[in-house]
Amino acid sequence: MKVLIVGSGGREHAIAWKVAQSPKVDKIYCAPGNAGIAEYAECVEIGAMEFEKLADFAKQQEVDLTVVGMDDPLVGGIVDVFESKGLRVFGPRKDAAILEGSKAFSKDLMKKYGIPTAAYENFDNAEDALDYLETAKFPIVLKADGLALGKGVLICNTLKEAKEGVKEIMTDHRFGSAGNRMVIEEFMTGREVSVLSFVDGKTIKTMTSAQDHKRAGDGDTGLNTGGMGTFSPSPFYTKEVDEFCQKYIYQPTVDAMAKEGREFKGIIFFGLMLTADGPKVLEYNARFGDPEAQVVLPRMENDIVEVFEACIDGKLDQVDLKFEDNAAVCVVLASKGYPVSYEKGFPIKGLETFKGKDGYYVFHAGSKFQNGEIVTNGGRVLGVTAKGEDLKKARANAYEAVKWIDFENKYYRSDIGKAIDEAE
Ligand code: AMP
Ligand code: GLY
Repeated sequence: MKVLIVGSGGREHAIAWKVAQSPKVDKIYCAPGNAGIAEYAECVEIGAMEFEKLADFAKQQEVDLTVVGMDDPLVGGIVDVFESKGLRVFGPRKDAAILEGSKAFSKDLMKKYGIPTAAYENFDNAEDALDYLETAKFPIVLKADGLALGKGVLICNTLKEAKEGVKEIMTDHRFGSAGNRMVIEEFMTGREVSVLSFVDGKTIKTMTSAQDHKRAGDGDTGLNTGGMGTFSPSPFYTKEVDEFCQKYIYQPTVDAMAKEGREFKGIIFFGLMLTADGPKVLEYNARFGDPEAQVVLPRMENDIVEVFEACIDGKLDQVDLKFEDNAAVCVVLASKGYPVSYEKGFPIKGLETFKGKDGYYVFHAGSKFQNGEIVTNGGRVLGVTAKGEDLKKARANAYEAVKWIDFENKYYRSDIGKAIDEAE
């Protein structure tokens, strides 16, 4: 089989690595890819939003399956374009990817179908939002409706901050058209857990849990980022929590989308908060998490291509999804200054140390070839993942492997997985 992967980050590297394990696959392409993905795939210089070019390429090369890693092309309708040309593709169509593409849509869906989430109101103009704030309780959470690179959420402690937030989102358009509408919702407290799942339109099978670290600095300080590290499984995601979520959140979400005529096929990523009143949905994503994929996929036992195909064919009920009984930790190596401003183009040393070391992986997020060398090419540069028989061993292994890599301005959080100690 020939497989095309769309995307260029650490998540797509993890997907490419996992697809490469499949005995069914003899050729992988990745558009646009990066220097790490190039180890498994032929990287093709077509952007993830160039749907027609991508589909033409897939036709020409007789690609059997396309897997879309990123949110933007999914929300933009890449799956519809591929399907209209008779190409097999894994991911939700545009009318289903709206689950991630519009927070107002997802909140209304949850309300309509009784899926637990924070209380909220949607707004499509700044005046109404400002009026509403006058009687609101603080802290309060403001969310731009559309995709905003994970940065469209503002937690405001005072009325003044919240008013400024509404202005930023709706008047100054800091997140562009993503802020044409907004959600204002109740502030919740609790542990966060990411649960990724495969969905075939009817059946949902969840993967092992994970936890992300979104803030740039140790102790969850500093700005929000795309994710600075993950661990899997989450010790807080107990059997009881899982049972609750399976019954009241996961299957109800899939059924709700089907009832709305928006059958969802692909990945649903549930961002959950474990509150004192039980688990609630913070957000939905319509794709693998980044860097959740980098800890979940190395623990997955199945041939991922078989699972992708089962989702497309509506046969996920026949798949027995299995994960190893161990743990994994991913530490993101970023460029100093991320997520604001940072320099690029520094040679990355030590990548070869990972070769042949079982249970250690280096997934590239922002790298490229330059004059025969691999150099830094982004804010997040690499995700170093290590497995271990338990979370503590995995964490120790990951931080050991972090030392194998060197590049100028290398920055990482030193407390990824600290929550593991609090679980005891
Ligand atoms: P989201 O993109 O909706 O997951 O929001 C990004 C981050 O903002 C989440 O991971 C939480 O840390 C935080 N957040 C979002 N919604 C809420 C909420 N209602 N209460 C507290 N924190 C929230
Ligand atoms: N790690 C969070 C996300 O992928 O959105």
